[in-house]
Amino acid sequence: MTKLKKFFVTTPIYYINDVPHIGHAYATFAADILYRYYKLLGENTFLLTGSDENSQKTIAAAEKKNLPVEKYAEQMAGTWQETWKKLGIADGAFGFVRTTNKVHESFVQDVFQKIYDAGFIEKGTYKGLYCIGHEAFINESDLDEGGLCPDHKTKPQELKEKNYFFKLKDFEAKLKNFYQQNPGFIQPEERRNEVLSFVDQGLENISISREKAKWGIKVPFDESQRIYVWFDALLSYYSGTDKELWPADVHIIGKDILRFHAVIWPAMLMAAGLPLPKRVFAHGFFTIDGQKISKSLGNAIDPLAIADEYGVDALRYFLFKEIPFGSDGDFSFERLKEVYNADLANGLGNLVARVAKLCDTVGLEATKPTKGGFNSAYKKAIENLKFQEVLTLIWSEITKIDRQIDQAKPWELIKKDEQAAKELLTELVDKLTSIAELLHPFLPQTSKKILSQFSGKIKSGEPLFPRK
Ligand code: MSP
Repeated sequence: MTKLKKFFVTTPIYYINDVPHIGHAYATFAADILYRYYKLLGENTFLLTGSDENSQKTIAAAEKKNLPVEKYAEQMAGTWQETWKKLGIADGAFGFVRTTNKVHESFVQDVFQKIYDAGFIEKGTYKGLYCIGHEAFINESDLDEGGLCPDHKTKPQELKEKNYFFKLKDFEAKLKNFYQQNPGFIQPEERRNEVLSFVDQGLENISISREKAKWGIKVPFDESQRIYVWFDALLSYYSGTDKELWPADVHIIGKDILRFHAVIWPAMLMAAGLPLPKRVFAHGFFTIDGQKISKSLGNAIDPLAIADEYGVDALRYFLFKEIPFGSDGDFSFERLKEVYNADLANGLGNLVARVAKLCDTVGLEATKPTKGGFNSAYKKAIENLKFQEVLTLIWSEITKIDRQIDQAKPWELIKKDEQAAKELLTELVDKLTSIAELLHPFLPQTSKKILSQFSGKIKSGEPLFPRK
């Protein structure tokens, strides 16, 4: 039996100190678009997401809720998993890796040991600043005037302790060579350039353990140290999947965590002698009505709330039509409503309703549609994660069909020549069925509804997108 081609996509594994917001849903939807596309092509597809639990932030969040940390982590992992289910990610068939699970923990320890044995981990002293919000070291020069982390508005910890260091410097030349050999590894292009110039400035060895942390995976040969949460988290991409699916075809991440994924992660895999992922795609950040998403501003919107009001598909459409994937953008409720009414209620929804009503009038029964499939422009755009381009492409088809209807005036034709009208409607139904297919990766529920409405005896039905 020939083996199916495989496609393995990941989202970042999310911190559980808080509930999901729309920024998290963004990456997860993007992964789902690819998952659905490759699945439709018949590939063996897998989408992995999960929870990054061994962060120090987890302890603080559990304390706030007065819960033992394990209990808190369990509850939160459940909340995240539930959210993705409710949003229909991979139709519920996604993989979910928790970094506190035993398989993951022992895998992380094995890799730590392996890299140590290979001579790429050494003991040293770390002295400097650490931001728990970022779970990363921070330079004095990055702080604001008040000496706070500009993103988290918190004072970084001053650390001086014995740590294990990963000899990242040893991988400088290998990484450069790898980027050159694999020009598509980091995308989009501007992010790739950013990483190349960062590596060109010279890499430094990085601390990968904490002496005083009370939570986290223990260094296998030194119980007094816990493994740095990023070293642990990155390995979840590998521990969370069947080994035959490795390497990942695309890691979808936000631009804020690019260096971890494009520099440290490949170096770790090189050190451990494991295959490298094929691609890291960093998306941009979006603001809400022009403001940074933040808990204190109360604009960390729950994606489920928007889905309740507009439907999951409308949210997906808006996010990927409004913001070019890879660039920064803004999410505004006003625009959401505008785009919803224009493109979904009046555009797609109205077209479907129009054709269905005409078919209903003449009692048209759908014949088996000719299989449209994805054309090369569509394929090229979606495989390069140019989601906005794909949607523009689909909507230009929608406009063409609208225009064809306006010109052919089937409502008049029905009265003059019913047979000719039926032929025209059959052609239109065929076109809508192809559109439904193209829509599937982006608007899966809508796609399904259209396909079911245009099969068998066609009836006018409920509007796909009631006007708001
Ligand atoms: N736990 C790490 C990832 C480890 S992956 C091995 C982490 N978690 S996070 O929960 O803080 O963030 C997850 C993702 O959410 C990041 O990719 C980040 O870019 C994304 N976003 C958070 N706020 C966002 C916006 N305002 N806009 C778009 N994406 C945003 O980092």
